[in-house]
Formats: sequence, structure tokens, C-alpha cells
Amino acid sequence: MVFFKSALLFATTLIHLVSAQVGPGRVTGDIAAHDPTLCKDNNGKYYLFSTAPGLDIRTSTDRIHWTLEGRVWPNGGATWTDEYTGTRDGNLWAPECYYTGQEFWLYYSASSFGSQKSAIFLAKSTTGSPGTWTHLGMVTSTAPRTHDYNAIDPNLFIENGNWYLSLGSYWTGIKLLRLDPATGKPLSNALISLARRTANSGAVEASTIYKNGNYYYLFTSWDNCCRGTNSTYNIRVGRSSRADGGYVDQNGVALTNGGGTLVLATHSRAIGPGGQDVYTDNDGPILVYHHYTSAGHALGINRLSFANGWPVVV
Ligand SMILES: *[C@@H]1O[C@H](CO)[C@@H](O)[C@H](O)[C@H]1NC(C)=O
Repeated sequence: MVFFKSALLFATTLIHLVSAQVGPGRVTGDIAAHDPTLCKDNNGKYYLFSTAPGLDIRTSTDRIHWTLEGRVWPNGGATWTDEYTGTRDGNLWAPECYYTGQEFWLYYSASSFGSQKSAIFLAKSTTGSPGTWTHLGMVTSTAPRTHDYNAIDPNLFIENGNWYLSLGSYWTGIKLLRLDPATGKPLSNALISLARRTANSGAVEASTIYKNGNYYYLFTSWDNCCRGTNSTYNIRVGRSSRADGGYVDQNGVALTNGGGTLVLATHSRAIGPGGQDVYTDNDGPILVYHHYTSAGHALGINRLSFANGWPVVV
């Protein structure tokens, strides 16, 4: 039995070591996307939003070939973000899209590197095209800096009419807010802690909550983003039987206590994978992320299998 158990553990570990090596699926065209989020409209057209001045919009009809359409906020239009980014035409980060069936909702972050003077804003558009977005105001902020977390990297999770926003980066980690579905804004300021690390300066960010079968999965990115081919970003996961906490990794370590099972790490075909989103497409769960090559940052798209109860990149 002991032998069997350790053989099983070995096999499971092997699966994860192998999965952590799987290269990005084929993507072509303009794939220089960072912190991507994926949506699809009623005609089956894909929309990918990502970090950039004004936020980039890319579209695809086949999820392989991508065309850069332009910006959510062209020509420095998001003036309300300038005090957080410290620039004009600010570099807005890590958007999160949701398509209602009629319109696109987009959460996004305004901050500057390593600062808690940060805010998350909300916009919507019926077409998803550049320059068609309506500013719906601020969702939450950690400025002035009296908070122990950082209000960037929004992720929306909806189930049975309950709306949740997870967010956070470094400091005390990943937090969860309940949202009012009518407005997309917080119901209260009550925060729940979902994940926290002390290792590597508390480097955990880019949360994504995803439901598969009986479990909720919390994906995060660990370690160092945004250093080109020196990036050490890697995608981690834990799971829980409820959305609003209790996440543990495959070894049973709480994500609030530094736990996190490896999903995808640096390997020869992808350096520093992270900034991920998980989207349910017709062919199942899809992991969307960025990674680095010597040419810069690039989009990665892979299918995810939850066959053994834990996500494996395929
Ligand atoms: C990686 O780190 C080395 C050593 O610090 C530095 O010289 C190089 O410029 C870095 N490369 C990138 C892409 O940041």
C-alpha cells in the first residue's frame, strides 16, 4: 500500500512536471499581449484585452490568428487613471473581461510598478471595439496607502447571481470582494483573504477563480513578472469546495499559508508564464497567459485538463 501510494504520488508528480513543460499552443499574427483576458461574442468572435497604454484589444475568429484592433481608451482618453499611473496615456494593466450576451464589461488596473497607489476601474461596450467604451467609474482603490494589500489584477467570478471580484498583488496577497451584479461595484468593503505568500517578497498576484466539477480553483502567478527573459513568473493553483476561501494545494497546504501547486513554469519554449485567465470555450477550459521570448512578451493559449481533479496544461 505504501509502495502503491508512493508510486501514485510519483506518477502524479510526473504528470505535473510534464505539464509544467508544455509549450504554448499555436498562435499567429499580433501576439504581443501581456496579462491577457479572453471573451467571445454571440457570433463566436474572440476578444483579447491586455496590458498596454489605453489597454490593447485583439480579435480572432479561430483563437489562433490574432489581429490588433486598437485601444479601449485611444489617445490618452482615460484621464481619470493618470493620478494612479503617474503618466498621461497611462499604462493600464491586467484587464478582466466579461461578455453578458449584450455587452462587454471590462475591469482594469491603474497603478505604477511597486506602488499601492492603485485603483480598479470598470468600463462597458456593446461592440468591444476601440473607442466605444463607456467609463463606469472606480470599483475599488488602495490609495491613500492605508491598506495592507494592492488593488490591481481584477478577476470576476460569477455563480448563481453571486458576483465576486478577486484582486491583489504582493503585500498581504489575494483578496475577494462581493459585487452588486446590477452595478459591478462592491456590495461592501468586507474583504476575504484567499492567498498569501511570504517567500520571495510575497510575490503572488494575477488571481483567477475557475469552477470545474465540484471544485473552485484559484490560479495565481508567483515570483517575478516583467523582466523579459529574466522573468521567473510561474502559474500556481489551489482548490476549494467553495469560492470564497479554503483553497489548498495538492499537498494540502493552505494558499493563505504559501501553498500553490505548479501548473506552468519556465521551460525552453516559454519563459516566465503568468498573468493568466481561464475561459470556458466549446472545447473546454482554456488557459490564456503571457510568456517571454528573446523577442519580448507573447501570448500563450493552451487547453486545460481537469481529468485527475487538478488542472494540467495540454
Ligand atoms: C537580465 O539580467 C541581466 C543580469 O542582471 C541583465 O544584464 C539583462 O539586461 C537582463 N535582461 C533582461 C531582458 O531584462
